[in-house]
Amino acid sequence: MSHNLLKGKKGIIFGALNNKSIAWQVAEKAYAEGAEFTLSNAPAALRFGDTGKLAEQCKTIVIPADATKLEDIEEVFDRTLEHFGGKIDFILHSIGMSPNVRKKRPYNDLDYNYFLQTLDISALSFHKILQTAFKKDAINEWGSVVALTYVAAQRTLYGYNDMADAKALLESIARSFGYIYGREKNVRVNTISQSPTMTTAGGGIKGFDSLMDFSERMSPLGNATAEECANYCVTLFSDLTRKVTMQNLFHDGGFSSMGMSLRAMTQYDKSFNCD
Ligand SMILES: NC(=O)c1ccc[n+]([C@@H]2O[C@H](COP(=O)([O-])OP(=O)(O)OC[C@H]3O[C@@H](n4cnc5c(N)ncnc54)[C@H](O)[C@@H]3O)[C@@H](O)[C@H]2O)c1
Repeated sequence: MSHNLLKGKKGIIFGALNNKSIAWQVAEKAYAEGAEFTLSNAPAALRFGDTGKLAEQCKTIVIPADATKLEDIEEVFDRTLEHFGGKIDFILHSIGMSPNVRKKRPYNDLDYNYFLQTLDISALSFHKILQTAFKKDAINEWGSVVALTYVAAQRTLYGYNDMADAKALLESIARSFGYIYGREKNVRVNTISQSPTMTTAGGGIKGFDSLMDFSERMSPLGNATAEECANYCVTLFSDLTRKVTMQNLFHDGGFSSMGMSLRAMTQYDKSFNCD
């Protein structure tokens, strides 16, 4: 059901790889709500992913960019502004990758070159996008920038590895840049802290199925899906949330406020009965 919440709004969506991607769901919802946007993803991801299909569906263009490369990000903004003949209103940063997670290096045996890549891809890319947008004055007043994060930035969750550090940095960048962007241009910057979600990036985390099950049992409302996350993103891009900025907004069915739940306790108790 569409409410035309984003009618007339223009944006950039980074990170839609396939139809499981949170960014993909955001693109579909934003399109249904009347938005126009360009899509961007890493050149390698464009070769094996389905971003082109999504572009056809949403009648838009794809601009390749490795989000760690400033010149690529500048190109995304230049081409987007040219495409629309003017400024944009929203940006989604939905980018994350850890070579340490991929190569199964545990947190107490990290490869430091990989660690730097994790931070560069998953956190500094957000600063690069914000700084490029700011310098090019690419976002209209009352525009909205959202990045996706995870509760492992605040609490230790086994297996999340150096992505936890990247997410802590990402959330800090949202606050630090959110202050400047709000003060100077009335643009808001927030992070959404999403439940574990079965996507290409999510599935790479060690023990992800158990994490999803645990989190589902712990959350009074259950895990939030990618589609539900997309709905939340739409509200943040809309004019209904103009004074929300510099926040880390939990979208996790209540998980982040829980300690122990009945459903988790019931499951946990079973392990004491099996001997
Ligand atoms: N899936 C989850 O459980 C979960 C939970 C909370 C937050 N998040 C966050 O949501 C965001 C989107 O992830 P997702 O779960 O939709 O998985 P996904 O794998 O579909 O998306 C990750 C995207 O990052 C892109 N990417 C990786 N390296 C890049 C680079 N150098 N330049 C440009 N793009 C690059 C990938 O191509 C991909 O499109 C990530 O920031 C992730 O950490 C995911």
